[in-house]
Amino acid sequence: MSDQIFEQRRKGSVAHTDPLFSSFAHISHLDPHGAESFRRQAELATAFVARHISDRSCRGLKMYEPAELLEQARSWMNLSHGTEDTEAMLESVLRLYADTGIPVSSPTSMGRQFSAVVPLAAIIDFVSSAFSQPSTFYEAAQLPNVAERLMKEVLAERIGWSAKNCGMVTISGGSLANLTAILAARNVKIPTSWQRGVGGGDALGRPAIAVSAACHYSVSRAAGILGIGADQIVELPTNRCEQIDNSAAETTLEQARREGLHVFCMVASAGTTNVGAIDDIAGLAAIAKKHDIWLHVDGAHGASLLLSEVHRSKLRGIEHVDSITWDAHKMLFMPAACSMLFYKNPSHANMAFHQDASYVFEADGRYTAFSSGERNLECTKRPMIMPLWICWSLYGQSLFSEAIDHALEMAAAAFAILQYPKSNFVPINEPEANILCFRYHPPGLPESQLSDLQLRIWDTIRSDGKFFISKVKIQGSYALRVVFMNRDIRPCHFESLLQEIQRIGNQLSAGQ
Ligand SMILES: Cc1ncc(COP(=O)(O)O)c(C=O)c1O
Repeated sequence: MSDQIFEQRRKGSVAHTDPLFSSFAHISHLDPHGAESFRRQAELATAFVARHISDRSCRGLKMYEPAELLEQARSWMNLSHGTEDTEAMLESVLRLYADTGIPVSSPTSMGRQFSAVVPLAAIIDFVSSAFSQPSTFYEAAQLPNVAERLMKEVLAERIGWSAKNCGMVTISGGSLANLTAILAARNVKIPTSWQRGVGGGDALGRPAIAVSAACHYSVSRAAGILGIGADQIVELPTNRCEQIDNSAAETTLEQARREGLHVFCMVASAGTTNVGAIDDIAGLAAIAKKHDIWLHVDGAHGASLLLSEVHRSKLRGIEHVDSITWDAHKMLFMPAACSMLFYKNPSHANMAFHQDASYVFEADGRYTAFSSGERNLECTKRPMIMPLWICWSLYGQSLFSEAIDHALEMAAAAFAILQYPKSNFVPINEPEANILCFRYHPPGLPESQLSDLQLRIWDTIRSDGKFFISKVKIQGSYALRVVFMNRDIRPCHFESLLQEIQRIGNQLSAGQ
């Protein structure tokens, strides 16, 4: 092969003309690394995705048998490379990829805490993949690191903090943000723990964290990972609305101290996973201060309410906490994962980890001030702030606040619908956020069969493929769970879901 052909092929701008490649030149003639491949495949994918997201029809999730899906996926791996029509194959893969996912653009998709993403955010995410700028170090991702600083400043103001005098890192998911916050809390409150570990306890007792049973599972998992141990999780009592009962919490903390535990961190929720409950953060902040406990707020779901003028007061007191988890891939409609971990005290952001790694860490403060390598677990992380920063810059806060307000309005409307006279639906929670749980209780059905009926209704709904909802166990008994995320969802969609539940529920309970 001549140098000229070698170079042309390397640039990906021409089809193979070298006889060496003639066997597959007729079909797969473009260099997979080249710009022309990128352009053609991107055009195909863009047209496909545009069609996909414009489909707002009412539909649920299609569940495939894993074995069937495995076979189909395997068949694509067994192709003889270079002899297939790559564009046709790409289109088939995209079709199956879309078909096997939760139909987030559909107004009858109400099952999970994520939704269709802002289209511009998806485009920037795609561009980020192509640019390949892992953003842990300033050197590798200069604009993302500057954007991270700017997003910290605007969002800190919404928290009620000084824009400049606080800390924030982007991080791959709310679970990792919760883990990192508790690690920072441990290192700040038990300064010897990074070096010596926590096995021997500390002067104040056995290290412990205080959380409610309504907390996301990532919080109790963190206790295991960080060497605190599940036995050292102090459970804070909750009220009927799944909020921490503050006065009972004080008693529990005092009792824990008497038992030789040193509770160094308490976790409150701004939007619990099950029902979207928001703890009384102001009250808990006062308790944390009194007992010298780090207060972390898991706002993975609900911190976004800070952007809504209507709902931000539900997070009253959040300005007094030490750290906050905030997921943009939930209520800010960004591609996953995009989580942010905020610290009130900027120096605490540097307390979670202590390492030297001369191959990446730099002594020059000009750059390290913008790098998050020393402040997050990941060595490589996506420039996840870019979609959020660009959407914020182009469209402003109202892009988010309007969608949040709509979601919460829908949850309130749905709650009202459940209470229509003679309805056989029993709401479990009056939504503070956009999550609503309820049960269908046909007349005459014994309480003992209620949980099982909800599970079977949920299962039938999922297999029927018209709606997508979730289920959750509340106080030991199953309930149906809906999360209002979609911009197109209206009360009529929820009403038709209830009709469907009623139809299925009656059929199932008649056969019981
Ligand atoms: C309240 C809460 N915290 C944390 C998480 C975990 O977030 P992620 O899925 O981004 O790890 C979730 C996920 O649903 C959540 O609802």
